[in-house]
Amino acid sequence: MLTLNKILEIPCRLPKWKIHGFLRGFTFHSGKQSLHKLVLGIETSCDDTAAAVVDEAGNILGEALHSQTEVHLKTGGIIPSVAQRLHRENIEQIVKETLSASGITPKELSAIATTVKPGLALSLGVGLEYSLQLVKQYKKPFIPIHHMEAHALTIRITNKVEFPFLVLLVSGGHCLLAVVQGVSDFLLLGKSLDIAPGDLLDKVARRLSLVKHPTYSTMSGGKAIEHLAKQGNRLHFDFRHPLHYCRNCDFSFAGLQSAVDRIITQKEKEEGIEKGQILSCAADIAAAVQHTVASHIAKRTHRAILFCQQRGFLTPSNAILVASGGVASNLYIRRTLEIITKATNCILLCPPLKFCTDNGIMIAWNGIERLYAGLGILHNVDGVRYEPNLVLIQTSF
Ligand code: KG4
Ligand code: ZN
Repeated sequence: MLTLNKILEIPCRLPKWKIHGFLRGFTFHSGKQSLHKLVLGIETSCDDTAAAVVDEAGNILGEALHSQTEVHLKTGGIIPSVAQRLHRENIEQIVKETLSASGITPKELSAIATTVKPGLALSLGVGLEYSLQLVKQYKKPFIPIHHMEAHALTIRITNKVEFPFLVLLVSGGHCLLAVVQGVSDFLLLGKSLDIAPGDLLDKVARRLSLVKHPTYSTMSGGKAIEHLAKQGNRLHFDFRHPLHYCRNCDFSFAGLQSAVDRIITQKEKEEGIEKGQILSCAADIAAAVQHTVASHIAKRTHRAILFCQQRGFLTPSNAILVASGGVASNLYIRRTLEIITKATNCILLCPPLKFCTDNGIMIAWNGIERLYAGLGILHNVDGVRYEPNLVLIQTSF
């Protein structure tokens, strides 16, 4: 029988909080390294300056995060130079807070792990520059992190998930389905042909001027749409489902964005309101968009599960779908995914809401995973660069 992973609400009470994850039961290769590994993770790939210290059992010793969401909402989108300035202003404080909450000194760290790809070049640069400074000062190994690999492995902090598993990564910049065969071994099954679902939801929220509504003014676009949709009737609008006839696992959201834009313009005319005012049918539009996104994501994921089952890519008795990334914190989308996992004898696992959106914990944990797998640990950082536009490692099949 299948179960939906119960959403774990992890209390965040600093200075020190821990997650008693199943990983504690994992046996790591003893003898390879000493028993107590601590990794500082640093994340600045987009608009969150975040850091965390995590140990090998998934205990989060300390973490801190500075979100730029409110600033970018006011300017109608992320301006890279503004993001860079805010990262620069906050990174030192965030790392200091993290270390002090952890109660450890940099000397006690086993390694420093930092997102170096993909993301906004100006943002990645701040995290990398700061990390390399620490690495050199304290003579620590450096572990460059792929942001999407970190999203994919986050689930292993809280759940005992063995490889291989199917992962759906849905965020503001990415949308992909892959079989995770190992820490850095991904078999890509499908990706977005245009924009990511989070990008679409952010654009719709902006177009609906939700930032002017006190309830939604500080929420990310996706979160605002999820909340507003609860008051709407999705049946009042009928958007075409993307890539209906494509027999693969790719995604597309740009057509839906244009369709929503057209409807909003039409409704603005009908209601005689100016651009920037909130439509009376905004909640219905939000509900219909969310439903179309959820059902498109679920249909492509369903194909991917069937494909994996046909090809024997997943363990038949324990086929797992992990959904992660900012958009995977959407409960409507989670419930829709649950329908397809139930129908295909799969187990749906989602990280706790707080771990789905960008954070330092997932980067530190990816560092731990790489440390134990002996992958990509650098003792010499000469020539380390950030790589803004990289896609996840692709293996052909
Ligand atoms: O993973 P993430 O924090 O950053 C990227 O790697 O892109 O994802 C951010 C995206 C944003 O587009 C945001 O609107 C969306 O995730 N998001 C949501 C929700 N919370 C954040 N989308 C749908 N429902 C939510 N509750
Ligand atoms: Zn992300």
